[in-house]
Amino acid sequence: MRLEELTLKDYRNYDDLHLAFPKSLNIFLGENAQGKTNILEAIYVLAMSKSHRTHNEKELIAWQKEYSQVKGVVKKATGLLPLEVQLSKKGRKTKVNYLEQKKLSDYIGHLNVILFAPEDLSLVKGGPAVRRRFIDMELGQISPKYLYELVRYNQLLKQRNAYLKQLAEKKATDELYLDVLTEQFVASGVEILLARYGFLQKLEGWSQKLHHEITHEKETLTFHYQGSLPTTATMTKEELATLFTAQLTKKRPQEIFRGTTLVGPHRDDLLFLINDKDVQTYGSQGQQRTTALSVKLAEIDLIHEEIGEYPILLLDDVMSELDDQRQLHLLETIEGKVQTFLTTTTLTHLQEHLTVTPAIFQVAHGTIERQGETL
Ligand SMILES: Nc1ncnc2c1ncn2[C@@H]1O[C@H](COP(=O)(O)OP(=O)(O)O)[C@@H](O)[C@H]1O
Ligand SMILES: [Mg+2]
Repeated sequence: MRLEELTLKDYRNYDDLHLAFPKSLNIFLGENAQGKTNILEAIYVLAMSKSHRTHNEKELIAWQKEYSQVKGVVKKATGLLPLEVQLSKKGRKTKVNYLEQKKLSDYIGHLNVILFAPEDLSLVKGGPAVRRRFIDMELGQISPKYLYELVRYNQLLKQRNAYLKQLAEKKATDELYLDVLTEQFVASGVEILLARYGFLQKLEGWSQKLHHEITHEKETLTFHYQGSLPTTATMTKEELATLFTAQLTKKRPQEIFRGTTLVGPHRDDLLFLINDKDVQTYGSQGQQRTTALSVKLAEIDLIHEEIGEYPILLLDDVMSELDDQRQLHLLETIEGKVQTFLTTTTLTHLQEHLTVTPAIFQVAHGTIERQGETL
């Protein structure tokens, strides 16, 4: 798929911006703090209805303004699809083909993006929450069913925690109600686990292949899903449910004492291993970077396999962070079938590697000009 057009209204430091993207490689060039990342962020918002940089939507609205709009036209095998995200201090509205979408799971997935930014190193270095969010967002992009289930799971978790707290504070005593909540919670949790196992198995395959290529077969990358439950990918739905229920029964006194749910997919983690060693603990900075890159690039193949179209690729300030070998790999990907949007402060190290002609957009103070002609 391709993003054909992007229109911003009062988004961050852009008041009115309209861009067309006729080329498959689009470079946003400019000094720091000019608005390069803001553009990639806007594309990400168009795809996911949320920013990758902040949870606070107000930050996206231009200062002194009440309302902000991101619009785009996506070209897919099925035709052109207009998308729109409206942000206001009251909340957010999303539209597909000019029709408002009430559910997140009905909006996300129409534009598929892969974003690679310097902070993506935290995928390997950061805490478990970073990796859970990664799994949830990426899997959510290709599976509305998963997104829907995740919303449900989080609601049930909230309800269950609230009731455990009441039990802890002795404001409630009825454990039968906890049984009812637990049963629903387990059923939803099992769906989450099954979806994650399936997704990670595929992603691991693609990541391993890329990591082998980048490291010239020296390193083998594997994933290990570290559950808060001793579950495995080979278990059936029934086995997972039985195990999950048994763990919750075992933990019940502790959960009632602490007033919170102690096991479930909301507590799980994903480990990356290189030659069987945990990269977070034992990997060098370079190995951690390569791992993050392999996993991100693997998503391109995975999305293509799942939905039959390539996602678009957003590369924020990453070229200068990578050594030649890794840059080359990235550029090989770019010069294939994947529409790419890339930010950089300089073209020097890029130009010598490129074999396609990019569209270059000069970014300064929230205005954008394309190679001489004003847009
Ligand atoms: N809500 C906002 N309204 C107006 N300007 C903003 C807003 N949020 C950020 N900015 C401005 O955007 C600029 C940073 O843009 P960014 O895209 O991160 O820069 P870079 O080109 O370095 O990637 C800064 O000048 C900042 O003041
Ligand atoms: Mg930036």
